[in-house]
Amino acid sequence: GDVAQRASTGSLPGWDDVEALVVEAWQRNRGVDDGVVADYIPILAEADPAAFGLAVVEVDGSTHDAGDVDVAFSIQSISKAFVYALACEELGHEVVLERVGVDNTGLAFNSVMAIELAAGHPRNPMVNAGAIATTALVPGDVDEQWRFIVDGLSRFAGRPLEVDQVVYESEAATNQRNRAIARLLESYGRIAGDPLDAVDVYTRQCALLVTAHDLAVMGATLADGGVNPVTGERVVAPEVCRDTLAVLAATGMYERSGEWLFEIGLPGKSGVAGGIVAISPGKAGIGAYSPRLDPAGNSVRGQRAAAYLSRALGLNLF
Ligand code: DON
Repeated sequence: GDVAQRASTGSLPGWDDVEALVVEAWQRNRGVDDGVVADYIPILAEADPAAFGLAVVEVDGSTHDAGDVDVAFSIQSISKAFVYALACEELGHEVVLERVGVDNTGLAFNSVMAIELAAGHPRNPMVNAGAIATTALVPGDVDEQWRFIVDGLSRFAGRPLEVDQVVYESEAATNQRNRAIARLLESYGRIAGDPLDAVDVYTRQCALLVTAHDLAVMGATLADGGVNPVTGERVVAPEVCRDTLAVLAATGMYERSGEWLFEIGLPGKSGVAGGIVAISPGKAGIGAYSPRLDPAGNSVRGQRAAAYLSRALGLNLF
C-alpha cells in the first residue's frame, strides 16, 4: 500500500495515533470485496460478506475498536494456536515438538498428501492433522479435554466462550475429511486415544464463538508473555508464548505463511469463518473479522488491515 513504513520500536506510537490508525485501516478496507465466503462447512456460507471488524488491544490493556468488533463468529482454525499454547503449557516443549512438529507443509490446511509425504507425521499444529493430534494430546477423557480447552480459551479471551451449536452440528455432519485425516494419523501410530473422539473435540473447539475484539485480547495475551492484559490473569508461561509465536510465524497462514511474514512481519493465525489474529510481541494483539477469504482460506480484508497496521504502527519484527 501507500502507507509509509515506520521502523519497529519498543512501544506503540501513543494512544491518539493508534486509535486513528485503527479507524483508518478499517475505512481503507471496508469497500474491498475480493474473496469468497467459505461454504465447505455449509452454515458458514450464511455469513454476511459485508461484516468487517478490526480491534487492537495493547499489552497495557488499552483498546481500539473499529466497525463490527462485537459480531460473533466461529473461531475455527484460530483455536489451533491457543489449544497449542495450552498443550505446550501442560506437556512441555519437547513432547509437542516430537508429536506434532513445527514445519510448514507448503500445502493446504486440510491436505492428506502432506501427511503421506511426511510418512504419517502431521508436521505442524496449525494444519488440521496437527491440530487434531494436538487436541488428542490434552490429558483426560473427552469431557476433561473439552473442559480444559474451553476454560483455557476463555482465559485467553477474558470471558466465558460458548459453542455455536449450529456451526458445530453443520461441521460434524460434513467433516468426513477430518475423520479420514485422524484415521490416517492413527494408521501411522501418530494420534493418542480414539481418533474420532479427537475430531469431535476439535470440531467443538472450532465452533467456539468469538468477536474481533476477543481475538485482539487473545492475541494481546500472547504478546504480553502469557498474561491477559485485561483481566491480569496469567494464562500460560512466557516460554510457551515464544514457542507458539514461532510456530505461528512459520505456519499460521498455511502455504501463504512466507508471503504473510514478508509483507506483515508478525506471527498470525486465520480461520475460515473470517477471523485473523496477529501478534506484535511486547506490544499488542490485532483481531480482525471479515468473512471473504483468499484461496488459502485467509480473510482478504483482515490481511489488508493487518498489513496497514503493521506498516503504520511500525510492528514488522524484521
Ligand atoms: O477443520 C476445519 O476444516 C475447520 N474447522 C477449520 C479450518 C480453518 O479454519 C482453516 N482456516 N483458515
